[in-house]
Amino acid sequence: MKLYQKKISHAEKLDKSIIAALTNGSMWKNIELKETVDSTNTFLKHKSDLKCGDVIIAETQTEGRGRRGRTWFSPQGNLYMSVCVNADGSFEKASLVGLTMAVAATETISSLGIDCKIKWPNDIVINGRKVCGILSETAVTQKNNLFCIVGIGINTEISHFSEEVINPAVSLRDVHNEKIDINKFTADLLLTFEKYLNNANMIEKYRKYCVNIGRTVKIADGGNEYTAEAVDIGENGNLIIKTKSGYAAVNSGEVSVRGIYGYCD
Ligand code: BTN
Repeated sequence: MKLYQKKISHAEKLDKSIIAALTNGSMWKNIELKETVDSTNTFLKHKSDLKCGDVIIAETQTEGRGRRGRTWFSPQGNLYMSVCVNADGSFEKASLVGLTMAVAATETISSLGIDCKIKWPNDIVINGRKVCGILSETAVTQKNNLFCIVGIGINTEISHFSEEVINPAVSLRDVHNEKIDINKFTADLLLTFEKYLNNANMIEKYRKYCVNIGRTVKIADGGNEYTAEAVDIGENGNLIIKTKSGYAAVNSGEVSVRGIYGYCD
């Protein structure tokens, strides 16, 4: 039986009350929406009463930050969101939480009928072009609580950036003909992230969605560049590679990975 679902047409603009209603009963108890902030990650990091379950969404960022000190260009139209979760006393947890967000983003984008994959550690790509980046950090509060702040930027509308030469970009709009209900999309992302948080199945899903596994990758480890075969993802989120001298685990903080022909392959 085919179910007819009415299309929601009023949800073109981000609306915090719709997202809160759609995530009612979840861990996301405090959702804030701002027109502009410097960076949603920085905003949470500096929040005086930071709590697990806090969410900040911004329409634009003036100092959006990417991994490895890069700038995340943040024009109006794309999605910029950061969430706060418990680090359970471990600084290493941030990288696993980043992977968890990558799994959630992959499933949420895929639910629109778009084929996407994860490029280790947590870029989401569509046909080798980047649609989403994730920046996972830790924050220590004045009361000495350790939290993970995970920020996600998704090119929902805009994909023409000056840095495109380095990382070819794509937006959901470029590959999807129908209008995206951005509030439902954001709520689905939050709910899917919560589903995989501290969930033993997360790494298994990650392995399934990771584009690098079974392929040759170029590893840039400081000044040292070499190729290897990516064979697996360790339980701690490390990439397991096979080189001429045997197997090794590489850490996302230490190395950068590209495909041999381009961004992914
Ligand atoms: C990357 O691929 O380099 C990571 C990009 C992460 C961008 C997001 S946008 C929301 C959050 N706030 C930031 O300043 N950065 C992250």
